[in-house]
Amino acid sequence: QNEPTVFKGLAGVVVDRTAVSKVNPESNSLLYRGYPVQELAAQRSFEEVAYLLWNGELPTEDELADFEEQERSLRHLAPAVRRVIDELPVTAHPMDVVRTAVSLIGANDPQVDDASPEANRAKGLRLWAQMPSIVAYDQRRRHGLDLIEPRNDLGYSANFLFMTFGEVPELVVVEAFDVSMIMYAEHSFNASTFTARVITSTMSDLHSAITGAIGALKGPLHGGANEAVMHIFDEIGAGPGAGERAEVWLNHTLDAKRKVMGFGHRVYKHGDSRVPTMYTALLTMIEHYGRPDMLELYESLAAAMTARTGILPNLDYPSGPAYHLMGFDTLTFTPIFVAARITGWTAHIIEQTAANALIRPLSLYNGHEERHLS
Ligand code: CMC
Repeated sequence: QNEPTVFKGLAGVVVDRTAVSKVNPESNSLLYRGYPVQELAAQRSFEEVAYLLWNGELPTEDELADFEEQERSLRHLAPAVRRVIDELPVTAHPMDVVRTAVSLIGANDPQVDDASPEANRAKGLRLWAQMPSIVAYDQRRRHGLDLIEPRNDLGYSANFLFMTFGEVPELVVVEAFDVSMIMYAEHSFNASTFTARVITSTMSDLHSAITGAIGALKGPLHGGANEAVMHIFDEIGAGPGAGERAEVWLNHTLDAKRKVMGFGHRVYKHGDSRVPTMYTALLTMIEHYGRPDMLELYESLAAAMTARTGILPNLDYPSGPAYHLMGFDTLTFTPIFVAARITGWTAHIIEQTAANALIRPLSLYNGHEERHLS
């Protein structure tokens, strides 16, 4: 009897169709609804990209104005959400705080069981709009600081930074942050998006799907890598001699058969299509904050890794130090990724619902032979 092939990690398996985004590892490109992500990052705002992902087309001027007005009106946290965040220990990982807040918001959502595309778009919008309030407040409370109320005269990224730091940084910082949000917004059937689709396929609700997706994103093989990159930078230390230290650290890590976070990708084998754009944003931040030492460390570690393994950086490698330079705590990096990816997850939840099939793969049993109670 022929044994079925096991596709461990579903590597190379095409499980469904999607019109949301296209990852092409051969041409090293990433398209959102047909548009190259680099073009979107250069010419459009994160809000326009969110609208594109959810509606399939870029907004007209009027549609964008209306969309922005709605998003800005939904940013405030309900007192219950704030209370629950306050109850969580400051030692809890911020991803656990975000996951808990999303679950709570779901329990209170007036449309929780409505899975129509309109309701899912509305629920996604409400959640997306509140995410900066949750993430920024969580970083602030860890420093003993109070919640800052959102400002509805600011765009999504500027308000996110304002709510975190109490002031709007210079435009160049807002733009680099906005680029990172666009880069993180969507990436086809990655682990967290697939998790969201699996949950949706059981006809469960959007908040459950996103709560599960956050759990998947937390791991260092996925979204948690941007945080892990910064831990590596801290361990090696920027400044004189960083190049040599990076090489020693790398050899030690690889000799111990440990993964170097921020490198490698399941789909891209010739480099991550999002890296050049995010690298440019990082360079801008390095120049803006006057930190050439950070660049030296970045380049040295990447060069040593590529020389020894041929494995190239992924998006988390430039985004981690960029967020650090902007002033975010390392533990806040992956929650920022959540705020960005809620746009992609919502688009996939809508798509999965529209042409649903329960996701239920098979397994090859390798346990004990059949046996019987005496
Ligand atoms: N450091 C050291 N070795 C690596 C790395 C790495 N970052 N990535 C791959 N390899 C090696 C791996 O050890 C294996 O070697 P061998 O064949 O000798 O056992 C080989 O390359 C193939 O790796 P794999 O882990 O089997 O391949 P995969 O397709 O499952 O890996 C990955 C994809 C992202 C899990 C992996 O590259 C990795 O663990 N990278 C570090 C974590 C990371 O940066 N994740 C973020 C991914 S991109 C952003 C996102 O989607 O969230």
